[in-house]
Amino acid sequence: MDPNRVLIFDTTLRDGEQSPGISLNTAEKLEIAHQLARLGVDVIEAGFPITSPGDFEAVQAISREVEGPIIAGLARTHVADIDAAWEAVKEAERPRIHTFISTSDIHIEHQLQTTREDVKGQARAAVAHAKQYCDDVEFSPMDATRADLEFTAEVCAIAVEEGATTINIPDTVGYTMPAEYTAYLERLYALVPGLRDVVLSVHCHDDLGMAVANSLAGVMAGARQVECAVNGIGERAGNASLEEIVMLLRTRGDAIGGVHTELNSRELARSSRLVSRLTGYVVQPNKAIVGRNAFAHESGIHQDGVLKERETYEIMDATTVGLDSNAIVLGKHSGRHALRQALEDLGFTVSGQALNQAFARFKEIADRKKQVTAMDLEAIVTDELREEIAGYTLEWFDVEASSRRPPHATVGVRSPEGTEMTGSFTGDGPVDAIFHAINSATGIEAKLREFRVDAVTAGQDALGETSVVLELDGRSASGQGVSTDIIEAAGRAYVRALSNAVRRRDVAEREALEPSAL
Ligand code: KIV
Ligand code: ZN
Repeated sequence: MDPNRVLIFDTTLRDGEQSPGISLNTAEKLEIAHQLARLGVDVIEAGFPITSPGDFEAVQAISREVEGPIIAGLARTHVADIDAAWEAVKEAERPRIHTFISTSDIHIEHQLQTTREDVKGQARAAVAHAKQYCDDVEFSPMDATRADLEFTAEVCAIAVEEGATTINIPDTVGYTMPAEYTAYLERLYALVPGLRDVVLSVHCHDDLGMAVANSLAGVMAGARQVECAVNGIGERAGNASLEEIVMLLRTRGDAIGGVHTELNSRELARSSRLVSRLTGYVVQPNKAIVGRNAFAHESGIHQDGVLKERETYEIMDATTVGLDSNAIVLGKHSGRHALRQALEDLGFTVSGQALNQAFARFKEIADRKKQVTAMDLEAIVTDELREEIAGYTLEWFDVEASSRRPPHATVGVRSPEGTEMTGSFTGDGPVDAIFHAINSATGIEAKLREFRVDAVTAGQDALGETSVVLELDGRSASGQGVSTDIIEAAGRAYVRALSNAVRRRDVAEREALEPSAL
């Protein structure tokens, strides 16, 4: 392999999915995995199969369907975890088992309640067991940056001896600093000569805002795999942001010996929008690379400079991250064939009933909105995909809003079993009224925690995209909706959030009766 190539290991669907409030179902995970394959990531960590039947099913579906990247499943060092990870990934073109155990004393004493000797034994047994199934085995000494380096080196040497092909050094709690991490990895190379024969990987969390800087320090020390997530989502403050790593290596790789990735950076903006839409995690406007303002110029001096020569104030071209791809693709006279072609150009293969459904929705939107752009289509397709998996659906609504009377809403909601239920409510505003009317129709007393409206594109007739986070029995769940009508988009988002909340409650109740392995 090219010694300067840095592999991108995407953990959006595993570490990213562990972010509070995110719970993606299999169809949503598959959609993200297909997009990651279009983006050209080298490895997709699709989930942690032992943790729940839902996680197992999603990893298995991704392994069966998604071509291109290596598909990895996470496992503790337990035999049952490794068996579940293998069962879930074994049908992938290129499967990987990723197994981990902590090497820091703080974890060994307090969490694992065991000894260093036992950790060494578990690491050896786990890698050997995984190797019986799969050539490609990754090993991570968790919390390595707070662990004793000599001991971590002993554990890594054992993993290499047993055949691990990638050794990943996680900064699990986002504690290290660039120079310290470089020194750590250089010392590790000195202590574990076999490390030169495998891929060294870095996995950095962002608790101190250092995840990308630390990952870069890792690459400078010799790491050739970076673990990261789209939009930087992940446990607590998140993981290193994939788009920042990719554009950093693309823009400044020459300054660090020519290191580079093989990703198709033009898919970055779209990947970011999809992940944000499906997780409900908003991308801050000034977020590097994919934020709405990442290429916007406000001050007169800057605008003047950019108009004369883009490079005066831009170190990257927006087209290289895919921010130019919002051409008008369709209008209200476009037919089914044109829609199918436009969707195919965007990378969606839609046929049969799904195409009929997408076409009906497209016509409804094109009637209200003159021009339908690529970004509109993306939003519509993602919205339609959710329709299939939602438990409850909003069938119709009536909302009366006036400055002289309290707003009133009546709704018809179809239950997962197919019954139509109606409910009415007089609220503080039209959106509040429709949300309470949905609670009244379903008989579920969910509490609204967050509500947000964004425009998919600019313009007066822009599609509105709403996001709702609600709470049911102490658990939060999110849902999104798209329409030219904000009230309708809000209602759609609310019933989806409610469906997700009910599904999560049901899973938790089942797991309480039959505890899973974690
Ligand atoms: O942060 C971490 O240590 C992890 C491991 C499972 C690699 O996510
Ligand atoms: Zn992590």
